Amino acid sequence: MNAVIENILTRRSIRAFTPEKVKKAELELMAKAGQYAPSAMNKQTFQITVVQSADIIKRLYTAIPKYMEGLTDYNFYGANTLILISDIKDKEIGQMDCACVAENIFLAGHSLGVGTVWINQFRDTSDCPDVRAALTAAGVPENHRVWTAVAAGYPNETPTKEKTATVKFCE
Ligand SMILES: Cc1cc2nc3c(=O)[nH]c(=O)nc-3n(C[C@H](O)[C@H](O)[C@H](O)COP(=O)(O)O)c2cc1C
Repeated sequence: MNAVIENILTRRSIRAFTPEKVKKAELELMAKAGQYAPSAMNKQTFQITVVQSADIIKRLYTAIPKYMEGLTDYNFYGANTLILISDIKDKEIGQMDCACVAENIFLAGHSLGVGTVWINQFRDTSDCPDVRAALTAAGVPENHRVWTAVAAGYPNETPTKEKTATVKFCE
C-alpha cells in the first residue's frame, strides 16, 4: 500500500506514553507538517507552540480542572510534550484551520513513531486566569485562543480501534 495512505489508516490516538522525552528533531518535523496545513484564504494566522517545559505543562494541567467540572486525574495522559495550536480569539474559522494543523501533526508524528492525542479543554479555558498565565509563559499570544492542543510522546500502547463512519458514492 502507498506509504501515505498506510500512515493515515494506521494512526490512532495514543493515551499512554513512555517517559522518554520526544526528540527536538522529530518535533521540528511535526511542527513543520503543521505549518504546511491549509488555512482559510491562506491567512496562516495560527501559531504552533511546542512545550516541553515540565513546569508549564504541570501549570496547565493543574489550572484547567479549576474551570471545568468533572475532570479527574487530568494530566494530559502523562505526556512530556504538549503542542498548543492557537489562532486569533474570535476568528471562528481559526478553529477549523487549527484542526487541519492538528491532523497534519498527528500524521507526521505517527510516521515518526511519536504518538499523539487531541486535547480539547483549552478551547473553553484559554482565557481563564491561571490557564492564560501559563499560556503566556509558554509564548502563546495574548490575542490567541488555543483551539486545540496535542499531547505527544512515544507510545506505550497499540490501539486498533475500528473505523465505521459511513462512506457513500453517488455516481
Ligand atoms: C474535536 C475532537 C476533540 C477531541 N477531544 C479529545 C480530548 O479532549 N481528549 C482525548 O483523550 N481525546 C480527544 N479526542 C480524540 C478522540 O477521542 C479520538 O480521535 C477518537 O476516539 C477516535 O480514535 P482515534 O483517534 O484513535 O482514531 C478528540 C478528537 C477530536 C476530533
